[in-house]
Amino acid sequence: VHSAISKNAGEWIDEVSNLSKAEGILGPFRVSLPALDHFPMKTWARLVSRHVKRSSIEQMSYGDPAGSWPLRCAIAKYLRTARAVQCEADQILIVSGSQMALQLCARALLKKHAVLYMEEPGYPGAKDALTSTGARVIPVAVDGEGIMVQKMKIRGSQNSVTYVTPSHQYPLGLSMSASRRLDLLDWAQRCGGWIIEDDYDSEYRYASRPFGAMQGMDPTSRVIYIGTFSKVLFPALRMAYMVVPRDLFKTFLKVRESLDIFSPTLYQLVLTDFIEEGHFARHLRRMRPIYLSRRNALVESIEGFLKPHNIDAGIHLSAFLPQDVDDCAVVNNSAENGISLCALSTCYAGANPRKGLILGFGGCNERQIKSAARKLESILQGSAGFKDRRL
Ligand SMILES: Cc1ncc(COP(=O)(O)O)c(C=O)c1O
Repeated sequence: VHSAISKNAGEWIDEVSNLSKAEGILGPFRVSLPALDHFPMKTWARLVSRHVKRSSIEQMSYGDPAGSWPLRCAIAKYLRTARAVQCEADQILIVSGSQMALQLCARALLKKHAVLYMEEPGYPGAKDALTSTGARVIPVAVDGEGIMVQKMKIRGSQNSVTYVTPSHQYPLGLSMSASRRLDLLDWAQRCGGWIIEDDYDSEYRYASRPFGAMQGMDPTSRVIYIGTFSKVLFPALRMAYMVVPRDLFKTFLKVRESLDIFSPTLYQLVLTDFIEEGHFARHLRRMRPIYLSRRNALVESIEGFLKPHNIDAGIHLSAFLPQDVDDCAVVNNSAENGISLCALSTCYAGANPRKGLILGFGGCNERQIKSAARKLESILQGSAGFKDRRL
């Protein structure tokens, strides 16, 4: 942090990306990476130093497994106003990343052989975490309105779990329609199932105001809501939250304690001040036009050779490739050239995955986007099966 704040943010991010580019981790198009070069590092460092100087014996000891109360209150207030989530602070659980929240859901809800419905294609990280206790995945296709609830069973689905990303489907980027949300809530109510709503990057919408969360439409408390600070602040913070239905809270708290007791107190205190003093809201407002400009640069740079769909939200895009192109080979080839992409086919749990690419635009500036797009085009033109320039 010290060396970072003594440089300007641009130099710092160049240094970080040079380091990690060599390992192929943080090259341009890295999916899920926010604009770290625009993070208000000076403000953050001032708040960290404030709390380090004030550290009491109590703050150095064990913390509350549910999270610090002032942070839970600040998050509940934010979720009610910005995301239309129905919640009080006593339903909020602070966890170390949404990946941990998904692990908690697996341990609390998904016994061996339990049924897990997942969007197809869907987020592989969720599949890995949610099947870690032995659940059986049933992939359910996504159409233009979201997960096709009509394909999910009601009889025999008691206690089954559906994982969805309604605000911004990962990886295809569409938003679930209001009627599909109601169908899914109805499914949960009728069969006594649970819905996990992963609201990982809903703050950024470019065409309209952000949609409210599905949890806010749920009259029967069947939704476990997950949000993260990884995309809106930075992933290394490892701070996320869950809104847990009251009937499940004790069970989730017990599992949370068994995993790693509590999240670091220092960063919970810093984050509380960051939200309460208005820096968080200001940061979100500043970032929207920056991401819009990066998205536009990406869409323009790839328009001659890739056709992205659902470009109205988030910090990534996806585009299909012809089925005879090996998207994993394209990803490996790109990594060797310092470009970090994801292969769409790795997001499928069932047979017949579609080929395509997922490109993040949050973590690279317009100049980096344009030059990486040129490299990507030549990699694709050299790939077997890539003959249709307009897809
Ligand atoms: C859909 C989705 N959910 C969850 C996560 C994990 O986020 P976190 O850093 O909070 O574990 C990601 C990260 O890329 C994601 O894309």
